[in-house]
Amino acid sequence: MASNMDKKKYVGVNVVVGLTGGIACYKAVEIVSYLTQMGANVNVAMTSAACEFVTPLTLQSISNNPVVTDLFDTAQQGNVKHIALVEKADIILIVPATANFIGKLATGIADDLLSTTIMAAKAPVLIAAAMNVNMYSNRIVQENINKLKNYGYYIIEPDVGYLACGTVGRGRLAEASKIIEELDKVLFPNKKLSGVKVLVTAGGTQEPIDPVRYISNHSSGKMGYAICEELKNKGAEVILVTGPTKVTPPVGVQLIKVTTALEMYDACLSVFQEVDAVIKAAAVADFRPKITAQNKIKKKDEENNFFIELEKNPDILAELGKLKEKQVMIGFAAETEALLENAEQKLAKKNLDMIVANDVTGRDVGFNADNNQVTILWRNGKIESLPLMTKKDVAHEIVARLIKLIHKE
Ligand code: PMT
Repeated sequence: MASNMDKKKYVGVNVVVGLTGGIACYKAVEIVSYLTQMGANVNVAMTSAACEFVTPLTLQSISNNPVVTDLFDTAQQGNVKHIALVEKADIILIVPATANFIGKLATGIADDLLSTTIMAAKAPVLIAAAMNVNMYSNRIVQENINKLKNYGYYIIEPDVGYLACGTVGRGRLAEASKIIEELDKVLFPNKKLSGVKVLVTAGGTQEPIDPVRYISNHSSGKMGYAICEELKNKGAEVILVTGPTKVTPPVGVQLIKVTTALEMYDACLSVFQEVDAVIKAAAVADFRPKITAQNKIKKKDEENNFFIELEKNPDILAELGKLKEKQVMIGFAAETEALLENAEQKLAKKNLDMIVANDVTGRDVGFNADNNQVTILWRNGKIESLPLMTKKDVAHEIVARLIKLIHKE
């Protein structure tokens, strides 16, 4: 669940994790461990039944904070006041939540430390339910869950799977990654790409002719870099594969610098399986010199012409399109004629979900400019023409559409 990119994700965030008595308590240990590793200050409160499944000492060691269990233990209260706990909480997560505990909350019973804590809470409360399949489908439990939803509590429904009681059905605690995902949605409502990994390519490739010359194009990397910034703002984890540029690369991304199309191809393929989306803003050379001279090529007096034999580079995006499984794929089309027709063909040929077509004939748009004017073509045939705007704003528009595609909105 953890990755190097978002080590600081929860720094400054106070999370109260409440455990109630179910076999899934052991899974709460993993979640507390993850939140702590990612920088959260985690305070754990356990019901006495929860203490039968895992020990407070385990949670204390994992969270680096004292664990509270007893409402009337004055020694504990001296260390951690439960009201103070919820007062500073940014979010409260009950994991696992039993049918009994859900019933207590729904009917306003506050007879132990955890239920009184939640009753006093102002922070959002997420409830990850886990119980026997028949208990879960019981009308009373369902009514209690609906009641809590109506009161504004967030319910994380259990998964279908093998249950501790030996049956198979809905009741198993949701996967830790799903619980974290739900927590992130509530905690960072603007970070709509939290937990999403995106591969972005930017800049132009350089194809060497000899040690001092190369074939390339005017791509500055500005468009791709602006997309990376916007993705980061929305909480995505970004892998940037970039050709040589003069623009400072964005911070907080995993940077892979390449020079040639073949290097870009290898870099993209090496990370493709781990990403959820690809945005390919790079201008890749379609051809490279078949032979790169080892030494600088000399001009000869008797020769008026000089020929370089070129061979085709792989079409990186088309190759990724063939391998595509879950990935959302967005390409660019830089055109000087027949903008829509050419872009449509590329969308289909490269198996894309969306293509951003830019007419690159204008002086103040496209390559190396600070502005761009794009037309967005969707796989379903929808076409949207956007006005002239800064590349930062174009990036905002593209990422907003990526969010829709990722969340199937
Ligand atoms: O970098 P800037 O100065 O900010 O300029 C931005 C831009 C004009 C470069 C950018 O907006 C843009 O249009 N990028 C795509 C340029 C391009 O190579 O277009 P294309 O129509 O030739 O390629 C179509 C798509 O296939 C692109 O997503 C491209 O990355 C990809 N491709 C192309 C060829 C190839 N061999 N492999 C590829 O993956």
